[in-house]
Amino acid sequence: MTPIIAPSLLAADFANLQRDIELINRSDADWLHLDIMDGQFVPNISFGIPVCKAIARHAQKPLDIHLMINTPEAYLEAFQQCGAYNITVHLEACNHLHRVVHQIKELGCNAGVALNPHTPVSLLKDLINDIDLVCIMSVNPGFGGQKFINKTYDKVQELRDIIANSESNALIEIDGGVNLKNAPAILNAGGDVLVAGSFVFNAQDPAQIVSDLKNVPV
Ligand code: DX5
Ligand code: ZN
Repeated sequence: MTPIIAPSLLAADFANLQRDIELINRSDADWLHLDIMDGQFVPNISFGIPVCKAIARHAQKPLDIHLMINTPEAYLEAFQQCGAYNITVHLEACNHLHRVVHQIKELGCNAGVALNPHTPVSLLKDLINDIDLVCIMSVNPGFGGQKFINKTYDKVQELRDIIANSESNALIEIDGGVNLKNAPAILNAGGDVLVAGSFVFNAQDPAQIVSDLKNVPV
């Protein structure tokens, strides 16, 4: 199966966002991944709703919005109005995850749940049928350019089994430290979506890297 490729704009040149979005528009990317950080849930602040709105004016790829924020339920509608295709919240940031997932779906978006590296995938067993996307963090969220955590492979496999034994069609997304070296093993473990920030935008030819990831041999 061909993976879904979601370049993360966090590694783009923020002084040339339109240029970098258009570069992704012209590439084989499937989604555009937007990392929203609040300086509370994660120790970094990225960008917020007005910037997302400006990005949406230029982006032609569906927006894959990853909320690394506390009380995400307070901002779902604002991100839906930015044109979100997927809205992903962190399990660790939600006391009432079932309710938040359904709020996202009622807004007409796909509902994603992200798990920090320390969070077991088994915690999603009772909710898996309600979720469209599970984002397994392969780094501690907050920064681009970190090293991929190898334990992720086991988590992807375990989640693949949970999904196979359910009625869920949830996609498995892997976010953090993804490159051409680890992509084959991620896909073999059962990953569907590859998020890549610095590996794409730090390359000489980002569009070529996107198609290399898309066509990675497995
Ligand atoms: C990390 C973000 C990732 C990040 C990935 O907190 O959620 O989406 O941008 O960047 P790389 O690919 O550089 O690890
Ligand atoms: Zn992300």
